[in-house]
Amino acid sequence: MITSTQLRAKFLAFFQSKQHAVIPGKSLIPENDPTVLFTTAGMHPLVPYLLGEPHPAGKRLVDYQKCVRTGDIDEVGDPSHLTCFEMLGNWSLGDYFKKESIAWSWEFLTGRDWLNLDPAKLSVTVFEGDANAPRDEESASHWLAAGVPAGRIAFLPAGDNWWAAGPTGPCGPDTEIFYWLGAGLPPAGSNKGSDSANWMEIWNNVFMEYNRVDEKNLVKLPKQNVDTGMGLERTIAVLNGQTSVYQIDIYQAIITAIGRVSGYSYGADPTKDMSVRIIADHTRTATFIIGDPKGVSPGNIGAGYVLRRLIRRAVRHSRKLGIEGGFLGQLAEVVIGQFAGAYPELAENRQRILDELAREEAKFLETLQKGEHEFEKMLPNLLKNPQKIMSGRLAFKLYDTYGFPIELTLELAAENGLTVNRAEFDEAFKKHQELSRASTEGSFKGGLAEQSEITTRYHTATHLLQQALKMVLGDHVAQKGSNITAERLRFDFSHPEPMTPEQLQRVQEIVNQQIARDLPVTMEILPLEQAKASGATALFGEKYDALVKVYTMGDFSKEVCGGPHVERTGLLGKFIIQKEQSSSAGVRRIKAVLE
Ligand code: ALA
Repeated sequence: MITSTQLRAKFLAFFQSKQHAVIPGKSLIPENDPTVLFTTAGMHPLVPYLLGEPHPAGKRLVDYQKCVRTGDIDEVGDPSHLTCFEMLGNWSLGDYFKKESIAWSWEFLTGRDWLNLDPAKLSVTVFEGDANAPRDEESASHWLAAGVPAGRIAFLPAGDNWWAAGPTGPCGPDTEIFYWLGAGLPPAGSNKGSDSANWMEIWNNVFMEYNRVDEKNLVKLPKQNVDTGMGLERTIAVLNGQTSVYQIDIYQAIITAIGRVSGYSYGADPTKDMSVRIIADHTRTATFIIGDPKGVSPGNIGAGYVLRRLIRRAVRHSRKLGIEGGFLGQLAEVVIGQFAGAYPELAENRQRILDELAREEAKFLETLQKGEHEFEKMLPNLLKNPQKIMSGRLAFKLYDTYGFPIELTLELAAENGLTVNRAEFDEAFKKHQELSRASTEGSFKGGLAEQSEITTRYHTATHLLQQALKMVLGDHVAQKGSNITAERLRFDFSHPEPMTPEQLQRVQEIVNQQIARDLPVTMEILPLEQAKASGATALFGEKYDALVKVYTMGDFSKEVCGGPHVERTGLLGKFIIQKEQSSSAGVRRIKAVLE
């Protein structure tokens, strides 16, 4: 049996033997990217480098990256879906391309000293071509050269073999590698195209040579890059002859703990087993989100809202197992124990994780109690109804006013011989969703890591702002978050009280003075310690590479940052602070524009 610790180590060692530099994985909360709530792929933190910025560690990189994707949340619990997973990745930034990428993937998967998988159980897909890019005969020829029979190579359309992380940004055709899940050996000619259900994707090699600028325009990048992503959990399952990711070491430990707190023995009832897997998945994800260096707390918008939903869903499923409450902390301890070796931040933030989980759990249990109480109050009237139907309007009231989930209303109704007018509830719910979507839509506009001239100007302005804040308020000012769109910058920083109008005026003046001085913006690559020693501002708790980029703006500002920035501060225009408000306890938020 291979463990997750062993697979991470093998992957890094293999690519180190091919001259790749190991870089640390990054935060789950993307920096400077307003378009997504979480890091969804290993390449996400590398977007600037895939677009052409030089990376301080070089042109060949390898890492493991924690990722969160909640788009498939309804499929969580099946054999292959998780909301939190790890991606093993290797990159070529304008260095090697298809030939080496494919040969090395094959060597790692089938080599005796590496994963030693049976080549007869592997198949691949390549891009069949369309108006954007040609049919990828080249990748197919490299697979044939590696020894993959033609019958195991499927040419598929963009829906399968074109990869992009968002509506804009680096993208390209990919070649994906699958493992046979069926019994025995796959029949001759079986591949993902002919027999989709029996093949599980384990690795994706993207040949990123394009940049989607907008809906209509796809341009060639200056360099041909490779971006690969191997699903750690799926690969371990495959290597151990397991058919579900929930059978691997890390989930087994969590599932055992769920058995301990619930008294339910896994395997006895398929519906309850599903709840166990959902709880295992959601607890891991919640622990990782709270335990991130840029930890998030449960809330009503953005990442905090996703976190709240995950916790509440886990609690709901725990009730199906007869758990009465107060269990999430015990499971989080197991998650921390399983992962702290690979992600030390989990141990460092242990207390915060336990506190946040306990608080949210208690809050939700109170909501449930209140909702149940309201339902009981409604019950005598409901039972008088000759058709024994509860209106969707009432069910929605329980949801909207008390936060009581519809699933629980349905259960309580059924227990009392009532049915709920679901169509009416759904209609009210949809209306409510449309309203809330309209109010958050703004934050999802645009594409991944938009790098237009205008956002680059905002990056540079953010550095000037941070330094001006330190000068006016003091050295305790530290960046707590930054979010840039083409319309504005938003900067969160530690400061215990609201700023006075005079302080705001002063900060704005200082930034505009530095713009008027037209300071040169220069970049140098330094070892992290040397960068810090030189006085460059760095984010506390952020994991940096061994070599970092330091951006200096004249004699005014020096920060560790991935860039990019404009060449001179004079290019920024006029800096105007629009708003200063509270962001969370001890953290203030400034919104500013350039005109
Ligand atoms: N970025 C590619 C993926 O996530 C490798 O599948």
